[in-house]
Amino acid sequence: MCCIVGYIGTQPAVARLLHGLRELEYRGYDSAGVAVLQPEGLRCFKAVGKLDNLAAKLGDFESSGPVTAIGHTRWATHVKPTEANAHPHGLTHSQVVHNGIIENYVALREAVETPFLSQTDSEVIVHLFERHLATWAAQAEPALDQRAETPSSAADPAAGATGDPTVDLTLAAFRATLDALHGAYAILLVSETAPGRIFFARKGSPLQLGFAEDGCHFASSDAPLVGGCSQTLYLDDGHWGVATAEGLTLFAADGSPAELAPKPLPASSLAARKEGYRYFMEKEIYEQPRVLADILTGRLGEQAVRLDELEADWLRPISSVTLCACGTSYHAALTGSYLLERLARVPARVEIASEFRYREPVLDPNGLFVVISQSGETADTLEAIKLAKAQGLATLALCNVDNSSIVREAERTLLLRAGIEKGVASTKAFSAQVLTLWLLALYWGQARAVLSGERHARELTALRAVLNVMQVQPRVHERLHRLSKRYLHGHGFFFIGRDLFYPLALEGALKLKEISYLHAEGDPAGEMKHDPIALADAELFTIALMARSTFYEKVKSNVEELSARDATLIAITTEDFELADDIIQIRPYDHPMLEFFEMLVVVQLLAMEIAIRLGNDVDMPRNLAKSVTVE
Ligand code: F6R
Repeated sequence: MCCIVGYIGTQPAVARLLHGLRELEYRGYDSAGVAVLQPEGLRCFKAVGKLDNLAAKLGDFESSGPVTAIGHTRWATHVKPTEANAHPHGLTHSQVVHNGIIENYVALREAVETPFLSQTDSEVIVHLFERHLATWAAQAEPALDQRAETPSSAADPAAGATGDPTVDLTLAAFRATLDALHGAYAILLVSETAPGRIFFARKGSPLQLGFAEDGCHFASSDAPLVGGCSQTLYLDDGHWGVATAEGLTLFAADGSPAELAPKPLPASSLAARKEGYRYFMEKEIYEQPRVLADILTGRLGEQAVRLDELEADWLRPISSVTLCACGTSYHAALTGSYLLERLARVPARVEIASEFRYREPVLDPNGLFVVISQSGETADTLEAIKLAKAQGLATLALCNVDNSSIVREAERTLLLRAGIEKGVASTKAFSAQVLTLWLLALYWGQARAVLSGERHARELTALRAVLNVMQVQPRVHERLHRLSKRYLHGHGFFFIGRDLFYPLALEGALKLKEISYLHAEGDPAGEMKHDPIALADAELFTIALMARSTFYEKVKSNVEELSARDATLIAITTEDFELADDIIQIRPYDHPMLEFFEMLVVVQLLAMEIAIRLGNDVDMPRNLAKSVTVE
């Protein structure tokens, strides 16, 4: 999704903004831009495409002297990624960057009447702002909407807020602008009327800031601040105000003064480096054993699983669980539903967040609502947890980003401990989600005493083996690399599996589709003859997840049906299988989750190798973004 950064200080700003944007570029890369306010006035630079294009356009331009600067990378939500539509958006003396959606922008555009340069919703912010400022400065024309009274009104929080009448007036115009906006936003605005200041607001989109010796820094997530600032202030929904290099004036949504406690940031840069791998995705696939080891640390005991974040007494009265998520995280949720029913014997249902929130769901008041999100900012998942909370359910987030909006909404959290994930195609976060769900299911099963001693011991033994299983075997990677060149054509892929291997089939298809741009679908193997088999022919490649541990014979017979229709078959299995055109041999395990994790690495690598052969940028696939903060 879009990312924003800002800086107020005396140091070269452009290099800082580009560094911050580069940290976040993987989240949105349709266009980028910066606006720099120096004593000589405002300069704005924008470019379509990746950040390198903006860097080329900036050439050797660098700020000098006291500077106020804002920057943005865009993931287009509703209008084309052109230069005009890139942020910042400016008018005569101000520039704005915005994340989120202004839902009432059409009405607002008509109301302001000034000509627009872009088709975006965001541009309306700067028009409204300048209009309010001009109105009040002249103390003449009536304000645009009735809430926008003059800043001298006693009710206006901006009156006298900064001790500088011009800044107060600018702040009041900013506040009146916010009052007119419906939707979600993180906004940074700079104006020649108030140099050395950034006006900011957060509602529904993340925004934070940090102070360092060189000034004040803004960002839409931790990464750009790490290394430069030792602490950060996470703005809450509704917060707005104005910052200088040394401090800030902060208000809550109702205009009352607000305060925030600083939170520590790691000292060293979180920025992931490729470390010799071709892509972040490849590095993150190889990193999975370390991630899983971190997840198990302190939790996998000799006799039992411990989850210090959840007391057994908190879980015991819960009568059912609803798992809710989007995309890859939804596939983890689906996997978790099998594990929770099997190991904890709690009824589990799974919901796609974007569907859930609008379908007037009937929820179990004694149920637990679990949301799963790598980013912690997915708008639909965030709204889903709010809805469940409003209905009085206990809530739990499985999330990779501490302090994210979803974490802050949830009653309890299990952090995923996967570390920053830069590849847009989620890999290590997915395996972290699945392992955490497995731990949760086992812990809950222990709390409810529903597992036999033998079953419990078997699960613990399998958990101990999982790190080894996720180690990429050079033999397998090499085989997938060679095999991939045979599967670059055709008209699509089926991924099929049963039981736990059905969500894995969905995930394998999603991974391939999102980075190769080839059509792929995941299906329950037993469902093929009810419809998908109509498509089967030699040019439709079937990837069969044939787990020895789980209904092997049944999947085999489904695959035979496809083979009889001349489908091209790639079997991921421990066995020899004469009908397969290609076999990817995996190691034999007697536990389904070990087969699951071993096959997961195979489908991740297969997708990546095919996409690389097709010449795609697997870390930044077209049309996608890392964190989807709009619905
Ligand atoms: C695909 C992928 C997406 C995300 C989805 C939810 O590889 O990463 O499908 O899983 O956008 O995102 P989070 O988990 O951040 O809520």
